[in-house]
Amino acid sequence: MRKIDDNVYVFDHPLIQHKISIMRSKDTSTKIFRELVNEIAMLMCYEVTKDLPLETYEVETPIAKTTGYRISGKTLALVPILRAGLGMVDGIMSMVPTAKVGHVGLYRDPKTHEPVEYYCKLPDDIENRSVYVLDPMLATGGSAVAAISFLKQRNVKSIKFLCLVAADEGIRHLHTTYPDVTIYCAANDKSLNENKYIVPGLGDAGDRIYGTK
Ligand code: URA
Repeated sequence: MRKIDDNVYVFDHPLIQHKISIMRSKDTSTKIFRELVNEIAMLMCYEVTKDLPLETYEVETPIAKTTGYRISGKTLALVPILRAGLGMVDGIMSMVPTAKVGHVGLYRDPKTHEPVEYYCKLPDDIENRSVYVLDPMLATGGSAVAAISFLKQRNVKSIKFLCLVAADEGIRHLHTTYPDVTIYCAANDKSLNENKYIVPGLGDAGDRIYGTK
């Protein structure tokens, strides 16, 4: 994992770089694209969860008693930004099946490119949890900032943002608005086009996950 700024990390692991490159190709099928989103989310989860607190407990093996370790307390909540963020949930849930899942629905106004909220449902105890906000694409950062503002209003203290491709502009926007939020991405692209798509990016992540184009 490579640090590119305070609280901003790019996963340069060869497996992740290999998989994201396949996702970028316009010839990659919906099925493969969806599988890769999940696989990358799973690989990112391994690194992102490395600070989860552990507690000890007694385990009896067939041979002797020993000390076991388990993740302690109420720990995680995943908050995918609908709809593309949903694509990252299963990969992470396969590693941490006890995580609660909240949902934030935002769409980009096609004219202003500003995020508009249409849905927000979060776990009751969200303020006691570490929250991973999920969205494959961090383009302008508008949706990420809007989703995280809901969490801040609910007094959530520990927030990480996980995405696949992050543009410089989105990183800057999110990082300057919420410097305490750690940003993790699998790739850092430089620019946005006139429609605010990431260049080179991988196209519309939601459309590619759900085959809607
Ligand atoms: N959302 C996407 O799905 N793709 C982009 O390039 C930017 C935002």
